[in-house]
Amino acid sequence: MTELVVRRLLIDLSQPVDRHWCNGDPFLTAWFNALSMSFPVGEQFFIDAVRNGFKALPEAEQAAFMTEIKGFIGQEATHRRIHALFNAQIEKHGLVNEWEPRARERLRLLDGTDPRHGLAITAANEHFTALFAEWLLSHPTLLDDCEPRLRALWHWHSAEEAEHKCTAFDLYQHLGGSEAWRTRWMRRVTLIFLTDTLRQTANNLKRDGTLWQWRTWRSAGRNLLGRHGLLRCTFRPWRAYFKPDFHPNQQSSDLSSNWLNENAQLYVKVEGAA
Ligand SMILES: [Fe+2]
Ligand SMILES: [Fe+2]
Repeated sequence: MTELVVRRLLIDLSQPVDRHWCNGDPFLTAWFNALSMSFPVGEQFFIDAVRNGFKALPEAEQAAFMTEIKGFIGQEATHRRIHALFNAQIEKHGLVNEWEPRARERLRLLDGTDPRHGLAITAANEHFTALFAEWLLSHPTLLDDCEPRLRALWHWHSAEEAEHKCTAFDLYQHLGGSEAWRTRWMRRVTLIFLTDTLRQTANNLKRDGTLWQWRTWRSAGRNLLGRHGLLRCTFRPWRAYFKPDFHPNQQSSDLSSNWLNENAQLYVKVEGAA
């Protein structure tokens, strides 16, 4: 079991955020904003999925998972809250979150289904976020020119995602979740997540009036498909998820744990949280 610490990040999100807060780059800003828009509903879903999975465990086996699940829920609840504050700031720029209602509608289809479905979906998303975390932390210049509080927000969230990347996966396996459904959900989640992210990013750029600017597309090409781009760098570790003996621990999260160790002044630990 992993010991998961709940941390309260010491940043103030009551102050406005610049329109192009991410290095003055409209594409990166719109992309990060789109991701942030998905977090409140997505992370609530992960919390519910893990909670339902925990309840489905035989009582005698619950104790072994209890502490880790509490930590997972505490971390995701903190992310959800802080991103809701961030989202309230970016909505003042005229952006509209069209992802959230679409996601809510879709997630309703899972009501009353076997809890392992929710866990497989959560495990797939957690794999994404862990890959994103290591990519972001291995390219720190991406957030070099951001305000320190926003840099801290994204690095902290990334680092904690890597820290709890095994929780949903382990619970799914412990509940006897099949390999076939694990990989099937990864395929579906990949398609849905990429489509939704690109759709909301385009929507943000359109409302920002920067969708048809050359610099936007140049940045998209470089940051997604370039030599150091997100999609290019994460393709192989993403594909590893389909191996029958895959476990999230097989992939390094050193950058994330280093960040948490080196930036302890940016947060306080929340005792007894969940
Ligand atoms: Fe999170
Ligand atoms: Fe997570």
